[in-house]
Amino acid sequence: MKIRVDPDKCQGHARCYDLARELFDVDDYGQSSVIVDQVPAELEDNARLAIANCPEYAIEIISE
Ligand code: F3S
Repeated sequence: MKIRVDPDKCQGHARCYDLARELFDVDDYGQSSVIVDQVPAELEDNARLAIANCPEYAIEIISE
């Protein structure tokens, strides 16, 4: 599974970071980015949780 954060949609709510610090980082401007190329299988549930909890729908699945 690969995911990305759409920088145009992300407003820095940081829920992704709170829910899955292994997958996301938030910079000083509140912009989130994905820090792994491939989501490890054991973290896919965390990734889906983060996707479901982003109020801006900014996190996308690129490939399953
Ligand atoms: Fe941005 Fe959504 Fe995370 S707005 S900081 S991708 S919860």
